[in-house]
Amino acid sequence: MAGLNQFTGKLGFILVAAGAAIGLGNIWRFPYLVAEYGGGIFVLIYILFIITFGFAIVAAETAIGRKTGKGSLDAFLSLGSKYPVFAKITGLLTLVISILITSYYTVIAGWIVKYGVSYISGAGELLAADGGAFFTSYIGSGIEPILWTLGIFAVVAVILSFSIQKGLQRVCVILVPALIVCMAVLAVYILTMPGGIDGLLYCFVPDFSKFSVGTVLAALGQTFFTLCIGSGAYITYGIYLSKKQSIEKSVHSIEICDTVVALLAMLLVIPIVFAFSGGSPEILGSGPGLLFEQIPQALATLGGGGTILGAVFFLILFIAALTSLFVLIEVPVAVLISRLHLRRVTAVMIVSTITALLSLVVNFGYSIWKDFTIFGNPILDSLDMLVSNILMPISALFCCILIGWMMDIRVITDEMEENGQKFRWKKFFVIMIKYVAPVCILAIMISSVVDMFI
Ligand code: PHE
Repeated sequence: MAGLNQFTGKLGFILVAAGAAIGLGNIWRFPYLVAEYGGGIFVLIYILFIITFGFAIVAAETAIGRKTGKGSLDAFLSLGSKYPVFAKITGLLTLVISILITSYYTVIAGWIVKYGVSYISGAGELLAADGGAFFTSYIGSGIEPILWTLGIFAVVAVILSFSIQKGLQRVCVILVPALIVCMAVLAVYILTMPGGIDGLLYCFVPDFSKFSVGTVLAALGQTFFTLCIGSGAYITYGIYLSKKQSIEKSVHSIEICDTVVALLAMLLVIPIVFAFSGGSPEILGSGPGLLFEQIPQALATLGGGGTILGAVFFLILFIAALTSLFVLIEVPVAVLISRLHLRRVTAVMIVSTITALLSLVVNFGYSIWKDFTIFGNPILDSLDMLVSNILMPISALFCCILIGWMMDIRVITDEMEENGQKFRWKKFFVIMIKYVAPVCILAIMISSVVDMFI
């Protein structure tokens, strides 16, 4: 693919891949799901999914990329050549998923820029006004959120049009550790506030009475979203992974970084709800607005320090979102380049234009089309649920069926051992891909549908 080179050094791939995994999924999505779906019980199920089929599918996708050396659509077509229709659907699904995520991810990234700029310009107090009312009025304000979203597209398109590899690696080396340190500082401060510890307990003590099919489906969706499963991201990055490097170890490292950031974000956002609103169920269940409504309140108690921390926090969050956006757009770009032999710039322009138009629809969902809701949810929430809870699981299921049953899975396990070391989790991997993951994904999806109707 024009413009990209192999990752350099052991850490290159891990950091860039962790940069893709770490993003709004960890910091914006995970805390509000933990709050909404019963705290500790959700966290427990989520971690279980991460270490079981989360690991297996990410490793498989990376191996597919490295083995075939092709973008997601062609990679599936070449592996599943005996079942071309099935392979094509699996490949196309990755494109639909990455395009849909981009269309709302950029909208949220736009809100983040607005918050960051407000802190930098000293207007941070405004964001905390009326316990979060600012957020709702801002996202419905029409033109400003749209301009920020389009600005983000412009930045991403320019960066992606050039060779991104080296720059991306450099950004991630600084970003991932900086993000962890900044969040840890904030989390420690918040835990020392009255009520902070109640928030901590809510996050870690599982309350089994809150267990439901909805909790399991939400945890499954979050696992896929945060690990980019089914989006073709790791197939695309796997292409540039050196044969000398262990996929198994890399995936473990990526998962550890990703989970640490998600848990830190949870320890930041949820204790704030307990410190400021006594853990009000209404606020805990407030969904996608949780981060934007709660963080400014805690920061407001810190005076000038809060302004600086707010600026740093939203800046880092923005960079975390950017590193995910790069791969989201790169997935369809890689396919366009290899299929239609387009120039990199042209492919980036086509994908950015399509996704930018879709992002307008998402933005309108809060202003001129705010009466249009799906099951009572705005367009953004509905798209997010469609992608994470339905399309990503289906895409992962198809991927498991394709590599577990339609071809010889040894092609993938051999690829894992290309670096000359034994694949220690081989048996576990095969059982996961062939049996556990497909059966669990199907069972969870079917029971969620049944649950909706009873
Ligand atoms: N994993 C990213 C996050 O948690 C989102 C993402 C999904 C990125 C799919 C790339 C592909 O924010």
